[in-house]
Amino acid sequence: MKVLHIDSSIMGKASVSRQLSQAIVDQLKTQHEALTVTYLDLVEQDIPHLTADILMGKNEEQTQLGLQLVQQYLDADIVVIGAAMYNFGLSSALKAWIDRIAVAGKTFKYTESGSVGLAGNKKAYIASSRGGIYGDNHPADFQETMLKTVFNFTGVTDIEVVRAEGVNMGAELKEKAIAEALTKVTTL
Ligand SMILES: Cc1cc2nc3c(=O)[nH]c(=O)nc-3n(C[C@H](O)[C@H](O)[C@H](O)COP(=O)(O)O)c2cc1C
Repeated sequence: MKVLHIDSSIMGKASVSRQLSQAIVDQLKTQHEALTVTYLDLVEQDIPHLTADILMGKNEEQTQLGLQLVQQYLDADIVVIGAAMYNFGLSSALKAWIDRIAVAGKTFKYTESGSVGLAGNKKAYIASSRGGIYGDNHPADFQETMLKTVFNFTGVTDIEVVRAEGVNMGAELKEKAIAEALTKVTTL
């Protein structure tokens, strides 16, 4: 069983989404004996913004990195993504990763009847943290909705969200939100 564990918060050890994504991976370890975890820290590993040269295969180093990122995504049986809400969306580092793994012919294809995802057969966990409270399907949520859309687009429909929100609305609320999210993790 292969897990691709991705973190994207800029806050290091103080990050809530990193705490939740690690808890999910730890929980998965208790459930699956032979678990191989590939860890991608998008703050440590710089994935440059997509450029025309990269897109057109004119940058050999970045072509190789793109191939590696796509392969990691395709190979994973489980993807765990720590995603902080930044300005209603994802961190630019996570967006840069998405721009490199959403590749026609690899993770999706267009057909006469629409797009078809090619990276299905995997489960995705979103470890979401937000300063405010949005709940499900809020019109200003371009964070979880973006990730869900990208997963769906690439064929991944089995998606579970573990969310701590309201974490910037006072220490008590933050503690409660994290505790509830960690309790949910134990039920996964
Ligand atoms: C640059 C930046 C932008 C943010 N934008 C939002 C936002 O739009 N909505 C919100 O509810 N919280 C926002 N927050 C708060 C974070 O979502 C919150 O602190 C969350 O815990 C971040 O995840 P982390 O703890 O894993 O870093 C923002 C934080 C930062 C640093």
